[in-house]
Amino acid sequence: MKKLYAVIGNPIAHSMSPLMHNDLFQHYGIDAHYQAFAIKEEDLAEAVKGFRAMNMSGFNVTVPHKVAIISLLDDVDPLARSIGAVNTVANENGRLIGYNTDGSGYVKALKSELQELKEKKVLIIGAGGAARAIYFTLAFEGVAHIDLTNRTPTKAERLVEECPYHAKSNILSLNEAEEQLAAYDIIIQTTSLGMSPNSECKVLSLHNLKESAFVSDIIYNPLETELLRQARDKGAKTQNGIQMFVQQGALAFEIWTNVKPDINRMTNKVLQQLG
Ligand code: ATR
Repeated sequence: MKKLYAVIGNPIAHSMSPLMHNDLFQHYGIDAHYQAFAIKEEDLAEAVKGFRAMNMSGFNVTVPHKVAIISLLDDVDPLARSIGAVNTVANENGRLIGYNTDGSGYVKALKSELQELKEKKVLIIGAGGAARAIYFTLAFEGVAHIDLTNRTPTKAERLVEECPYHAKSNILSLNEAEEQLAAYDIIIQTTSLGMSPNSECKVLSLHNLKESAFVSDIIYNPLETELLRQARDKGAKTQNGIQMFVQQGALAFEIWTNVKPDINRMTNKVLQQLG
């Protein structure tokens, strides 16, 4: 029988996950279909009940359900539990198990560009859900020095306190981060600032960036944010959010099917869709 997969969120109409996963199912000859469902917050529990009744094989979870989904699952992998958010659910013999592939997808994307991470001095901009998944995963992977800067520094302090994995971390205001930017090897932008249609926005200035730095922005629409453009002008290497999106999807696909999908194929599919 055809296996069913889904992504649930709200809004969900612009999700590129159905295109990406359906192409992979077809490419690898897997008899399965992946469907997007717009689910309101108050309907989440009912939706999960329906998925159980249908014996849905797996699903992705996106905004606003990544935290609320946890209490509806049978078990959650330790990294996802510590992050406090799940973006991938697998039906393992009738039990719904939650995973978080956002942070690990991000780290895979970073590793595809940089050989060595552990000794690098990292600065994360932002302290929301995405920053949390990335900070926890980097600390889990043994990256020793990860500073955070955020408009509201107390949120960054809380994030560091709540992380069960150890990293040396200073919290900086956005102004301090701008001044001390030359100290960092890797800068990771996780806020929504610069996302289309407000693509002229930039969370901080990179005038003190060192040329050998690597600057990564998790935004992929536009493909090059104002921040990345400035980094490139300074001679730095840059990475947009496409690889994080593709890698989180690839890890979910692997959890569901045990097949390591072709990253280039997935990237091309997504770029095609973005036009
Ligand atoms: P996500 O889950 O996508 O990470 P989020 O939890 O809403 O989204 O977090 C948004 C991040 O963008 C936060 O770090 C937020 O800063 P605050 O913690 O101070 O709210 C940051 N952010 C959003 N709008 C911003 C703005 N205008 N200037 C600076 N930072 C902003």
